[in-house]
Amino acid sequence: MKKLIDKLFKENYLNGQELLELLNNITEESKEYLMQKAHETSINTYSNKVFMRGLIEFTNYCKRNCVYCGIRASNKNADRYRLSLEEILYVCDMGDRLGYKTFVLQGGEDDYYTDDKIVEIVSAIKEKHPNSAVTLSIGEKSYEAYKKYYDAGADRYLLRHETASRELYKKLHPNASFENRIQCLWNLKDIGYQVGSGFMVQLPGQTNEDYVKDLLFLKKLSPHMVGIGPFISHKDTPLRKEKNGTVEVTTTLLSIIRLLLPDVLLPATTALGTIDPLGREKGLKAGANVVMPNLSPISVRKKYSLYDGKICTGDEAAECRKCIEGRINKAGFTVDLSRGDNINWRRK
Ligand code: 5AD
Ligand code: FES
Repeated sequence: MKKLIDKLFKENYLNGQELLELLNNITEESKEYLMQKAHETSINTYSNKVFMRGLIEFTNYCKRNCVYCGIRASNKNADRYRLSLEEILYVCDMGDRLGYKTFVLQGGEDDYYTDDKIVEIVSAIKEKHPNSAVTLSIGEKSYEAYKKYYDAGADRYLLRHETASRELYKKLHPNASFENRIQCLWNLKDIGYQVGSGFMVQLPGQTNEDYVKDLLFLKKLSPHMVGIGPFISHKDTPLRKEKNGTVEVTTTLLSIIRLLLPDVLLPATTALGTIDPLGREKGLKAGANVVMPNLSPISVRKKYSLYDGKICTGDEAAECRKCIEGRINKAGFTVDLSRGDNINWRRK
């Protein structure tokens, strides 16, 4: 194991067989070593900084039906909401006062927000906060649409591939095309975005062979950001009875991703913080270096319910910024409020 991990650390690459060997045979002791090497790698690229992104969940309407997701179109129990341009700008101003220099606009695939509306929102944020980065996370769109948002000033785009196993993808995404999703990611790169991809961990039926596909796909795509988190069941979805993912498997994969893509911006996700009270801290120690506190108005937070038990949706959330900052420091890291661009990216 140690030999494989050393090779991964030195070459930032393992082939499929080697990755599978690592995943199949990892022990507690080798896991410790893997995490140590991943941590060393993030320190080398971004020192012990943790970059902060303000997350704005601006619509929970969604036309898709991903079987794991609580805001899927057929969930009649979802209490739907949309934020207006004014509300979004208000949240950004508040975020700006808290020091955030990145706003992540995330939402379901909601055709109410036409391309023109998205352009209007992006332009308005950029006009008020020219030194802040705007990240979009609004799903699959055409090349032309992605280009329009980019030209309006959007800097980054998050679109997880969700799983690189075509069969599993098909089972989880009725009437969706795996090929199209992958093509979207290449389109986003081509246009010049800082691109984030990623996948869910311990989905029902997911195997180590599937993770190998995810890891090799990420290596090939070479995105600027990668978001991964454990699958967590949602009571109003077909997967309500399925088991949740674990911190152990998620942190192993985080460490491997850090070693495969040493410069990647890698969040310790909310899902990870949801399955374990110290999940995000454990993620940081495994090589993650981004945290995305929720800036959405408290009144809508519970409604953006992708999975059960999501943290930072109650009264405590007013203090998110302070809470997470304290946690980051306590874990031995420093909070960085700069834009936090990937070191290899320049706007075209
Ligand atoms: N459990 C964990 N993650 C989920 N996501 C959606 N539903 C769930 C769930 N039930 C993730 C998807 C999506 C991201 C915004 O949230 O990976 O891309
Ligand atoms: Fe949101 Fe702690 S980070 S309450």
